[in-house]
Amino acid sequence: LEVDASWRLARKIPETLFGLFFEEINHAGAGGIWEELVSNRGFEAGGPHTPSNIDPWSIIGDESSIYVTTDPVSCFTRNIVALRIEVLCDKCPTGGVGVYNPGFWGMNIEEGKTYNLVMYIRSPESVELTASLTCSRPSGALQNLASAYIQDIDVSNWTRVELKLLAQETCRTSRLDLTTSKRGVIWFDQVSLMPSDTYKGHGFRKELMYMLLDLKPRFLRFPGGCFVEGNLLRNAFRWKETIGPWEERPGHYGDVWNYWTDDGLGYFEFLQLAEDLGAAPIWVFNAGISHNEGVDTNSIAPFVKDVLDSLEFAKGSAESNWGSVRAAMGHRKRFPLKYVAIGNEDCQKEFYQGNYLKFYNAIREAYPDIQMISNCDGSSEALDHPADLYDFHIYNSSTDIFLMKSKFDRTSRTGPKVFVSEYAVTEQKDAGNGSLLASLAEAAFLTGVEKNSDIVQMASYAPLFVNDNDPGWKWNPDAIVFNSWQQYGTPSYWMQTFFRESSGAVIHPITIASSYSDSLAASAITWRDTENSFLRVKIVNFGPHAVSLTISAQELQVGVDTMRSRVTVLTSSNVMDENSFSNPNNVVPVSRELPNAGEEMQALLAPYSFTSFD
Ligand code: AHR
Repeated sequence: LEVDASWRLARKIPETLFGLFFEEINHAGAGGIWEELVSNRGFEAGGPHTPSNIDPWSIIGDESSIYVTTDPVSCFTRNIVALRIEVLCDKCPTGGVGVYNPGFWGMNIEEGKTYNLVMYIRSPESVELTASLTCSRPSGALQNLASAYIQDIDVSNWTRVELKLLAQETCRTSRLDLTTSKRGVIWFDQVSLMPSDTYKGHGFRKELMYMLLDLKPRFLRFPGGCFVEGNLLRNAFRWKETIGPWEERPGHYGDVWNYWTDDGLGYFEFLQLAEDLGAAPIWVFNAGISHNEGVDTNSIAPFVKDVLDSLEFAKGSAESNWGSVRAAMGHRKRFPLKYVAIGNEDCQKEFYQGNYLKFYNAIREAYPDIQMISNCDGSSEALDHPADLYDFHIYNSSTDIFLMKSKFDRTSRTGPKVFVSEYAVTEQKDAGNGSLLASLAEAAFLTGVEKNSDIVQMASYAPLFVNDNDPGWKWNPDAIVFNSWQQYGTPSYWMQTFFRESSGAVIHPITIASSYSDSLAASAITWRDTENSFLRVKIVNFGPHAVSLTISAQELQVGVDTMRSRVTVLTSSNVMDENSFSNPNNVVPVSRELPNAGEEMQALLAPYSFTSFD
């Protein structure tokens, strides 16, 4: 394998090449990175009518002691449903009666941590109420982990109550209990429980944030995916319903991935997430098209206005109409929103072309600095409409994804750039629940993305997250698997760590001569840390044989510091090996010093492996 490391043929890789695609799918947000522990906190999951769906809230007590229903009496006009409990007992059972919420398949409550409970209550009488965090132990006993008590407070008008719950023990499957022993009626609304130590206090689950930060993502595409479109337009993501005080957000049912979200993780929080990750936000907005409907281009004007408002919210001054709403949410500074995608996978749909141009022209005029992404694939033939980038989505077998390493070799170099906004090996026999095999094919594809990064500007794996407790339909595989308290990366996650220094680096031409060339894929870059430059050669061996190579670097510009030279390998004894909660490090990169580093060195690549030499 020969690297031409001279600067003559080196080319700068875009600063934005590798990033993240976050979709609200698999409970990635609600019950995932957004650390609200209460599910269906506003009792709105059944929509604005009553009786509403209060699932997963459940009743503590029986028919003779409590009657629970929903009423349209909330103080929040955009989410009018409130929970009504009527306590029927004079001598209530020990511990009282009431309701409990198990969160997203059990709340992770940890000893020594404080949890902030906020709720709104109303009652014609003064109330006596206990809020507890409890845990069902295997013995069947319900253990109290933390509790707080309110009594004799006047709640004849809707009243915001804030309590701090300090956990005395740890339980991964806890629940929040709201109980009373006093006869009478109480209405509840907007019950929220969050740990006091979320990432930067911004509501994000720390351990998941650390995994994202470790990828050094340069962009964050959000909030979907199909989640943006909806099966029906009324279930699509509508940014204005997701901003402002959390209590006032109506929430919505994501009908493609089939679950309710309270929209605590809303448009503002996505922009905040991008900022916290040091990533450029990429806002995918609904183009007036769902999976089953389309707004006629003649009627699209209000949608266009809505999107312009979203841009003002992100980028406008704190004195502007929508910028002032952002400022009121605590972010006076403008968010550096420079990319928007006009729809998701809508190219072939009726009205897309017409709607696209309406959005494109209006945004170009109002925000000339914004780069716009079309849903139409321009990799085979030129687009018939203006765009700065176009989406390219690829889900396939491992063999096909491996071969896709050459996909962009002959793509036109004029016209819009490519955004590989979703890629993954998905064929079940190859991917399993996230296999080594899948990650190797994807790594090969990404070496091709690097080499073609004069035309490919960005690339992101999909989907990013899955909550393993979600019994509903899940998208499989995913990069990061979690439950209420644990998380691990699939091999596809770890594969991406090999590329985290590539954005903004320079790429060098390479040639490979080997009898196994057909099953090899490689690239070479020079990247910098704070002190030094490194030449990094990455090689995928997608075959069952060990491969011996001589690696030589002609015109190596920097002195070789063997003290800091390393070899890192992602492999396993079986190509279908996966990670799991019980064995999270089964397939992870292993790094060691590279004592024979030099302008020429021998390397032995393990069968089915991904190796990087720095
Ligand atoms: O990543 C999962 C889904 O795949 C996305 O929602 C959609 O864009 C694609 O079809």
